[in-house]
Amino acid sequence: PKDQTLADVNVVITAGPTQEAIDPVRYISNHSSGKMGFSLANAALNMGATVTVIAGPVNLTLPPEINRIDVKSARDMHQVALASLATTDIFIACAAVADYRTENVHTEKMKKQTDTDSITLTLVKNPDIIADVASASDRPFCVGFAAETNDVEAYAKGKLERKNLDLIAANDVSVGTQGFNSDNNALTVFAKNKRFDIGLTSKKEVAKQLLTIIAKEYQQHS
Ligand code: C5P
Repeated sequence: PKDQTLADVNVVITAGPTQEAIDPVRYISNHSSGKMGFSLANAALNMGATVTVIAGPVNLTLPPEINRIDVKSARDMHQVALASLATTDIFIACAAVADYRTENVHTEKMKKQTDTDSITLTLVKNPDIIADVASASDRPFCVGFAAETNDVEAYAKGKLERKNLDLIAANDVSVGTQGFNSDNNALTVFAKNKRFDIGLTSKKEVAKQLLTIIAKEYQQHS
């Protein structure tokens, strides 16, 4: 690429949903398409970065210059993210990670019960991937996302602080024309004492503008 703003910078991006198995044929997941994360990966590549995408199950492709590691569960994604820490300069957590997984994965397909109308699945908390990346001793520059339906700024800033992030990109998912599964998005980006607004446009353009902000903040910080 002509733009070499991020030459020699290793960017790792989590993208898509995770799948938490219930039994060999069933799982718990969400509607994340992976489009935002994959757009960010392309934007980083276009700025000369070395890019790795840790992808949950999505129906999207990447150019061959991008390293892709496919995972299913939050725990798989967590393990891969921590294993790549030593070579990560910028970590962008775009994945819609399942907050909970089933406590026990049944080894055989669960049978429909004839004697009862309800069954119970016990869920346990998954690790918080970006919080763990951000608390590592050799922590990279950390960028998180916050999908909110209300009080966007307050919740996003709370996550920035609690997860020890450098930047957080917040979007209002109560607006139907942006975010989850849409081709468009609008973001407000918060650093500790800064705010940037990216107006409603294609995820490709949002990704380009967000990467420009990330690159600038990363270079000021390091
Ligand atoms: O707390 P919440 O899930 O809203 O935070 C969203 C941010 O945290 C996103 O950047 C998401 O990718 C990241 N996250 C994570 N691991 C989790 C849950 C969320 O990395 N288990």
